[in-house]
Amino acid sequence: MFRIAVLPGDGIGPEIVPEAVKVLSACAEKFALSFKFEEAPVGGAAVDLTGHPLPGETLELCRKSDAIILGAIGGPKWDHLPVERRPEAAALLPLRKKLGLFANLRPVALYDALVDASPLKREVIAETDILVVRELTGGLYFGEKRRERIPGGERAVDTLIYTTSEIERIGRLAFEAARSRRKVLHSIDKANVLESSRLWREVINRLHEEYADIELHHMYVDNAAMQLVNWPKQFDVIVTENMFGDILTDQASVLTGSIGMLASASIGGAVALYEPAHGSAPDIAARDEANPLATILSAGLMMRYSFNHEEAAGAIEEAVERVLEKGYRTSELMQPGCRKIGTARMGDAVVEELLNQ
Ligand code: IPM
Ligand code: MG
Repeated sequence: MFRIAVLPGDGIGPEIVPEAVKVLSACAEKFALSFKFEEAPVGGAAVDLTGHPLPGETLELCRKSDAIILGAIGGPKWDHLPVERRPEAAALLPLRKKLGLFANLRPVALYDALVDASPLKREVIAETDILVVRELTGGLYFGEKRRERIPGGERAVDTLIYTTSEIERIGRLAFEAARSRRKVLHSIDKANVLESSRLWREVINRLHEEYADIELHHMYVDNAAMQLVNWPKQFDVIVTENMFGDILTDQASVLTGSIGMLASASIGGAVALYEPAHGSAPDIAARDEANPLATILSAGLMMRYSFNHEEAAGAIEEAVERVLEKGYRTSELMQPGCRKIGTARMGDAVVEELLNQ
């Protein structure tokens, strides 16, 4: 039996996470697996309940579980809180750090049925299949931060730090990923300006000696932002630091039709965390409108990376593909000739395809 911690969080989180749980339950049925789901509050929801966005019991549950599924965290209701209690800074980032989740894998793959859903041209995005490996526990997110009063105002400081070993472990993971795919790795940095990027590039180059079978390219982040929408097919695996990875993956999601399609797996520690790459979308919360597919596809990644069940992972991905081929769409992906359905119906449709395969 596998224990799965279920952390719905805020905004659309409590709508999309149950759909992923439905799909995991269907997987259990189909592949004779046994899952125990245990829910806990996190983010603003946990602030409202307990006063803190990451209660001790939630963290304990995560540590004891075999995998974690998380919806999304944060919203305008909690934006005014001091940083020690703000959902993003005091729950999501500590959760990643405390669980040692230094690598965030974000597959950016375009389903054929969605080629015309993207605002980008068909010939540019067709056959996009990229794996972004984002460093998740270093860089600007975790460096020292402070404010100082100075004459005429304040000075705010964020610190961008990377060590050799932090770069080595994420680089190694990315080279290995490239080895199991098309053997091309793009390392994205800003080595023309940043010292941390110069170290990043040196370490990646050194590692490359061990991975001579992989074609390595270095690219500046500004150029990468342009190349991603200009010629995405050149990319196989991308490896980059935390902040660049955050920004580039939101941009890359447009290649797949919608950020509602972008799944993610945060790995590297004893227990991995699966969450959609999008946010809590408070503007559409509680309207049965959110796209649950990124969370459902994250559950697919859980089958692959935590439970080593490639067949179940592939089955979830195929079920999503079939549902899209049949023309079912949540509103943000709606196109002429398609059938608009809500969050819960989308989850049901995936379950149905999965069990009928
Ligand atoms: C993401 C999100 C988070 C991040 C926010 C919510 C702190 O944008 O997972 O990409 O920046 O890492
Ligand atoms: Mg982001």
